[in-house]
Amino acid sequence: MPTLGFLKKKRTKDSSGSDFTPTSPVSNTAGLGSALSPQLSKSSNLFAEPETTFTNDSAQSSATSPPASSGGTKAVAAPTSNNNNTSMNAQATGQLQGQDANAKTQNVPSIHNLIHPPNYGSSQHTDSGYGSSTDGNGSAPALNLPQQRGNANPSRETKGKYTLTDFQISRTLGTGSFGRVHLVQSKHNQRYYAVKVLKKAQVVKMKQVEHTNDERRMLQRCRHPFLITLWGTWQDSKNLYMVMDFIEGGELFSLLRKSQRFPNPVAKFYAAEVTLALDYLHSMNIIYRDLKPENLLLDRHGHLKITDFGFAKEVPDITWTLCGTPDYLAPEVVSSKGYNKSVDWWSLGILIFEMLAGFTPFWDSGSPLKIYENILKGRVKYPPYIHPDAQDLLSKLITADLTKRLGNLHGGSRDVMTHAWFAEVTWERLSKKDIDAPYVPPVRGGVGDASLFDKYPEETEAYGQGGSDEHGKLFPDF
Ligand SMILES: Nc1ncnc2c1ncn2[C@@H]1O[C@H](COP(=O)(O)OP(=O)(O)O)[C@@H](O)[C@H]1O
Ligand SMILES: [Mg+2]
Repeated sequence: MPTLGFLKKKRTKDSSGSDFTPTSPVSNTAGLGSALSPQLSKSSNLFAEPETTFTNDSAQSSATSPPASSGGTKAVAAPTSNNNNTSMNAQATGQLQGQDANAKTQNVPSIHNLIHPPNYGSSQHTDSGYGSSTDGNGSAPALNLPQQRGNANPSRETKGKYTLTDFQISRTLGTGSFGRVHLVQSKHNQRYYAVKVLKKAQVVKMKQVEHTNDERRMLQRCRHPFLITLWGTWQDSKNLYMVMDFIEGGELFSLLRKSQRFPNPVAKFYAAEVTLALDYLHSMNIIYRDLKPENLLLDRHGHLKITDFGFAKEVPDITWTLCGTPDYLAPEVVSSKGYNKSVDWWSLGILIFEMLAGFTPFWDSGSPLKIYENILKGRVKYPPYIHPDAQDLLSKLITADLTKRLGNLHGGSRDVMTHAWFAEVTWERLSKKDIDAPYVPPVRGGVGDASLFDKYPEETEAYGQGGSDEHGKLFPDF
């Protein structure tokens, strides 16, 4: 097993830039050196936040309605308050349920959370299903166009154009390969949001123009309980800005590193939520392509939100772009073959493996090239503590043979959902968040509590400076 020292570091993306048709099939990884050279490593992070899902919890919501833009309709927003939901607080122990706080072993805890209803009192759930979102104040829903799964081109009203002056920018919540995400407070409704800032010059230099436009477009199209909500965007001469819900509970990455590995039912819970999100994305012909714990945030109640659509793309059939994060790349990506949604099911396998084992199956001394070699060899050593059902599922996800990979067969995502490892998951209820999360992050909701996030050096260049805008025309949707 690799030492955890290295694994504390976050992995960054690799991308060869815009989509391309491979010219040289790669049977060994040597030729990938330049395209896939490792980029900066980030240091590890802590936790983040959730968003409101229950009507009686509305006062705590940091962002369940769009921030008003200076030019748009006025914000309704009830001021945030410290009103606490007692049933939630009772759960907010900051521990994995079913796992002793100090447990280092993989003893299988109760599966209580997967099969019993949540303990949220009589509160009505409003973030259920795939569409309707009710602003916590009972004001008009921010987005009143329920998006049924599978509907192409949902019309999300995220056109609201904001400006820097609409927000009070505060600390950095996270940094990635191409961007930085800030906690911000709306000056209009006092709610907290997260704003991802991308430097145009950097995006251009890293050949991420198309991916960045896709990120905005794909996010705008999606509406799902386990996907981040984008409220709007803007740009100035130097930067692009994307306004999202602030997810308070931190990255799953941080929780996983702290826990070393998750008990079987805990991994199953997160895997099941990711599976639902992938099912939704794929039904929209969107491939996500960057599944990993760093991009999975925990909301205040402990449910997942997938953030970072930087590599998400609408792909009805096949694509060739070499992008993703080394440990999570499917062999067909590494070897520059055309690929499709199948790559997300592979990554789901890597994610489940990492949650259960604490390390990724092809990890090798931190060298991407060695990782790619291992991926192409395809040999996975399953630690003995991995449950046989989990191992069976993993062997069917982490398989190079696309005619055998679960999720990629005739049954599609159903085959994954009906696998024995997920037997006790009631998918319908899970999709309504009607199942207790195994861990409730200890956050003070609605007050911009970012204490579960790691600290990062702050940006030194002020946002909102004037000057020439050489790249503006490349980002027409922002
Ligand atoms: N909506 C959000 N709420 C809270 N934190 C976020 C949010 N979106 C992103 N982050 C934090 O910022 C980090 C970087 O954002 P991400 O979109 O993943 O950027 P990159 O594309 O550079 O990886 C994430 O890993 C996470 O820690
Ligand atoms: Mg990311």
